[in-house]
Amino acid sequence: MTRIFDMNSPDDRARGLGAAAAALGEDRLVAVPTETVYGLAADAFSPTAVAAVFAAKGRPNFNPLIVHCPSVAAVGDVAVMGETAERLAEAFWPGPLTLVLERAPVSRIAPAATAGLATVAVRVPAEPVCRDLLGLYGKPLVAPSANVSGHVSATTAAHVVADLGDAVAVVLDAGPSALGIESTIVEVSDDAARILRHGALTRAAIEDALGRPLQAAPDKDTAIVAPGMTASHYAPRAALRLDATSVEDGEALLQFGGQAVANADGAVAVIDLSPSGDLDEAATRLFAALRDLDAVADRIAVVPIPATGAGEAINDRLRRAAAPRY
Ligand code: TXA
Ligand code: MG
Repeated sequence: MTRIFDMNSPDDRARGLGAAAAALGEDRLVAVPTETVYGLAADAFSPTAVAAVFAAKGRPNFNPLIVHCPSVAAVGDVAVMGETAERLAEAFWPGPLTLVLERAPVSRIAPAATAGLATVAVRVPAEPVCRDLLGLYGKPLVAPSANVSGHVSATTAAHVVADLGDAVAVVLDAGPSALGIESTIVEVSDDAARILRHGALTRAAIEDALGRPLQAAPDKDTAIVAPGMTASHYAPRAALRLDATSVEDGEALLQFGGQAVANADGAVAVIDLSPSGDLDEAATRLFAALRDLDAVADRIAVVPIPATGAGEAINDRLRRAAAPRY
C-alpha cells in the first residue's frame, strides 16, 4: 500500500520524512518532489533498491540513473570534479542542473545505477523537502523521473500514483513541481562542456556562467549520447501533431500565447500553456497539459512554440513526445 503525505502540512511533513527515510532503509521506493519533476528515489548504494527502480519504471537496464546528493562535497565522494564542474556547481547547485562526470575511482554507488559506464550523472537538488530527505537519510539517492519509462514525466503526486501505484511505498506530496521540466544535463569531460539534454536551466544561463559557448546538443537523429535520449520519450498515449496552424476533426489543441489557429472552436479540448506567451510558465505546465489532453483525445495538435530560452527544452520534449514509437 502506498502512503501519501501532505508535505505542506507541518505535522504530515515530519511524519512523511520519517516514513520516507525508513522505507529507503528497507530498499523500498519513495516519490520525492524536486524543483523540476517528481523523482522515484532509492538508496543509491543498495543494488536491491536500484534494481527495484528499474523494475518499477520498466526502464531498460542500459539507461543509467541520476545520483542526487545533499551537497557539492557529497558529489566529490562519487564523481571527479574538475575546474569546469566546480564552476558550474558554484553557479547552479543546488538547482536544476545535472552534471555527467567521471566516476570516482572508488565509490559505493551500486554499479547498476550507472549502467556500467565510466561516468556518473549527479545533481544537488534545491527543493526543500528533497533536501531535508537527503539530509535525514544521509546517503545519496538515485531518482529518475517518477513515471513509467517512456511516458510523460510526473509533476504532481497524482501523476506518480497514476503511473506507478503500489510500486511506491511513500509519496511525499509537496504540490505541483515548481519548474515542471527536467534538469538540464551537461557532460563535462576534460573540462569541455556540452548539453546532453535541454532542461529547466537555459543554455544562455550556463554559457554566462562559463563565459564561453557550449558545444551543441547531440542531434536527435545521430548517435544516442545519453543512453535514455531515445527519439521517443515523454510520450502520452495520444498522437501529437506539431507546428499545427489549424485543428482537425477529433483533435485536442495545445496552445501557446493565444495564437490564431483555424477551427480552434472545433477542438475536443484546448489548453493554453501560457496565454501571455511566457515560456517559463509554459514549461511548468507542459507535462500536466499533455496528461490532461491525453485523457480526452486520441490526437493532439500543438501550435509552434518559440525555441528560445525555456522553449529549447519544451521543443525537445514535444519532438520526442511526437516521435514514432517502437
Ligand atoms: O530533473 C531531473 O533530472 C529529474 C529529477 C527527478 O531529478 N530526473 C530525471 O531522471 O529526469 P531520468 O532518469 O528521467 O533522466 C535521466 C537522464 C536519462 O536520459 C539518462 O540516460 C541520463 O540522464 N544519464 C544518466 N546517467 C548518464 C551518464 N552517465 N551519461 C549520460 N547520460 C546519463
Ligand atoms: Mg525521465
